[in-house]
Amino acid sequence: MDLPLSSKRFQLQELSTQDSSELIQKDVLEGLFKRPRSLPPKYFYDDEGSKLFDAICKTQDYYPTRTESALLQKHTQEIIEIVKPSTCVELGAGTSTKTEILLSEHSSRSINEDIAYICIDVCKEVLIDAAHRLLDTYKNLQIKSIVGEYIPAIQAIEKIKSPVLYKFIGSSIGNFTEDEAIELLWEVANKMTSEDYFLIGMDRVKDKEVLERAYDDSEGVTAKFNLNVLNVLNYKLGTNFDLNNFSHQSIYNDKQQQIEMYLTSQCIQEIKFPVFDKTIKLENGEKILTEISRKYTKASIKNLLEKSGLKEAMHFEPSNKYFSLVLAKRQ
Ligand code: AVI
Repeated sequence: MDLPLSSKRFQLQELSTQDSSELIQKDVLEGLFKRPRSLPPKYFYDDEGSKLFDAICKTQDYYPTRTESALLQKHTQEIIEIVKPSTCVELGAGTSTKTEILLSEHSSRSINEDIAYICIDVCKEVLIDAAHRLLDTYKNLQIKSIVGEYIPAIQAIEKIKSPVLYKFIGSSIGNFTEDEAIELLWEVANKMTSEDYFLIGMDRVKDKEVLERAYDDSEGVTAKFNLNVLNVLNYKLGTNFDLNNFSHQSIYNDKQQQIEMYLTSQCIQEIKFPVFDKTIKLENGEKILTEISRKYTKASIKNLLEKSGLKEAMHFEPSNKYFSLVLAKRQ
C-alpha cells in the first residue's frame, strides 16, 4: 500500500525547521569551539546511528528498553482502563514499536470505536514506515504524523478529542537538562485538559556499575554509536576527525544523577573545520561531552512533575526498581 500524504486515515504535516546545515554549524560553533567541549546528542541519529541505537536496545547490558517494554506489557490494560483514550499523542514516536502494545490492547477492548494517533518525530521516513505498518494492522486507527521538533509540534496540534493519552517513553526525557525537561513537560501540561493523562518513561538511579555498563556495553555497540557522531560531522561539515584517535567513555556523575558520555582525544590533534575556515587543537585526554542521560529517584520525579505543572496519578515500577512509568495529570 502506498500512503497518500493525506487521506481519511492518514495525514502528514511537516513543520518548517531551520535549515539543517545552518543549524549544525551553529550547534558545532556553540559546542566544540568553547570549553568544556560538547555536542548535542541529536547528531547521533543518522542512518548508521539509528541502526546502532536499535542494536544498543537489544544488548544484554542496556536494560532500559526491555524493562520499560515489560512494564508496558504488564500495565497496559490498567492504563487503557484508566485513561480510555480517544487520542494518543506520542513525542519521539520513532518506529512506534512500544505503542503497538497499547494499540493492540485498545483495539481488542474497543473502548472507543476509533482511536486517533498523533506521532511526532524529526524523521519523516521513520514516521511514514510506522504509519504504513500500523494502518495495515489496526483498522480503527487514524494517524497524523508531524515531522518536527517537540515544542513547535505540540503547539501545532489542534482540535483533538479527549481523553488524550500523551506519551514520552523510552527514558528520552533523561537526555534533556532539568530546565529543558521542565520547558517541554510544561508545554504538554498546558495542552492537557482535566480528562487527559501523560505517560512518561524515566530511568532510575541505581548501582553505578550497572549504569556505566549500560552505556559502555561489553559488545562495544555504544562505543561505535558514540564514535559515529564524528563521522556525521566529517560528512556534514568536511571535518577530518579520525575515529581511531578517540575513545568512548561513560561516567556516572553521582552529584548530578546522570550518565555522561564522552569522546576522549587519545593524542594531541588538530581538527579542521573548512566551513568556518578554523581549526581546533585537542589535547591528549581532552573530553567532548556527547550526551547526558539523567536518572531519577521517586522524589526527583515528583519534584520534576511539580515544577512542570503536572502531578503523579499512577506510578509503575518493576521489583528491582530499575525504571518508572509514570501516569501524570495536569495540576
Ligand atoms: C535515547 N536515549 C533515551 C538513550 C539513553 O539511554 O539515554 C540514548 C543512549 N545513549 C547511549 N545509549 C543509549
